[in-house]
Amino acid sequence: MAEDLIISGESKVEKYENLLPQLKGLLSGEVNKIANTANLCAALKTTFNWYWIGFYWVDTPDELVLGPFQGPIACTRIKKGKGVCGTAWETEKVQIVPDVEAFPGHIACSAFSKSEIVLPVWQGDKLIGVLDVDSDTLDSFDAIDEKYLAKICEILVHTF
Ligand code: SME
Repeated sequence: MAEDLIISGESKVEKYENLLPQLKGLLSGEVNKIANTANLCAALKTTFNWYWIGFYWVDTPDELVLGPFQGPIACTRIKKGKGVCGTAWETEKVQIVPDVEAFPGHIACSAFSKSEIVLPVWQGDKLIGVLDVDSDTLDSFDAIDEKYLAKICEILVHTF
């Protein structure tokens, strides 16, 4: 039985540091990819209240498909190389976008999304999807988010 998260910490680093051990506990008892990915999105939403948090999984050689998420409805499929997510997949690099309107080809699932970070999700040396986080304020993400969200993805993929 899951228990409530304890949200604590003033700074972003403190919040991530407090979240990490709780996430490990939350995810370690389950091996199902959907269950753990869904709970991970809920934990991030509860902790940071970002506008949209979710996963897109590699579904075909050139297409991502929407996975578990928290937030408003979103586009279901994204082609390789398209938008921020497709770019993260194609380049295999984290994309930090301070202003989505300045990102050529950004896919606007919602007009409220202002900044975004997308991380490739690796299972061993295989890119299996991306984690996409959107904020309704400009310039919300930096190297701290990149570092901790990468750790969080690593914790996740080791559970399934
Ligand atoms: N903005 C993303 C699309 C996904 S939504 O933000 C949930 C992109 O450009 O790839």
